Amino acid sequence: MTLSPTEISARTRALCALAPIVPVLVVDDVSVAQPLAQALVAGGLPVLEVTLRTPAALDVIREMSQVPGGHVGAGTLLTPADVRAAKAAGATFGVSPGATDALLDACEAEELPLLPGAATASEAMRLFDRGYDMLKFFPAEASGGAPALRAIGAPLPQISFCPTGGVSPDNAPSYLRLPNVLCAGGSWVAPGALIAARDWAGIETLARSAAQLRGSA
Ligand code: 3PG
Repeated sequence: MTLSPTEISARTRALCALAPIVPVLVVDDVSVAQPLAQALVAGGLPVLEVTLRTPAALDVIREMSQVPGGHVGAGTLLTPADVRAAKAAGATFGVSPGATDALLDACEAEELPLLPGAATASEAMRLFDRGYDMLKFFPAEASGGAPALRAIGAPLPQISFCPTGGVSPDNAPSYLRLPNVLCAGGSWVAPGALIAARDWAGIETLARSAAQLRGSA
């Protein structure tokens, strides 16, 4: 069985519609996985991206997947091996900074919904041509921010984006106002210092503010 690009995009679109912000998580210590995920979900952010940038990441995904109400995905997917490892760990979606045919083939074969990255009109068009219409705009701020994404949306209104990279509470509303933005990704809701301090109440408070960002847009 394989999942078509159209079905993959429908599934990632549904996930991106659940909350305005997807926390981008870099976690070294598997023992914080469950309380961290619980705090974010309790704060109103149920869709979580765990980057595959630490040795603990796959175990963190495994632990977070047990948390009720959460949807745990794997970020920084670069290779087909990453896709298989993420799926085996229980990730229900994936995120990649860009896209290669090998990566797309693997997600379709493994039936793993993917949010593939694009930063230019040509990259977005290539993905759209294959059937993907829910993309990550990365690196968002460095690629021109909300004005660039608005400009890309003029000729390509069929494509929706999750901008990620440099998104903050200050600039998130300018993205979330755009008709081609469903949600944004950001690491600020789970800062390393608060994770290290196991300040779950502090993280829940940050999540609650982020969950309300769409309304203030
Ligand atoms: C990343 O590269 O870690 C993500 O794009 C998140 O970026 P941020 O730390 O700027 O939110």
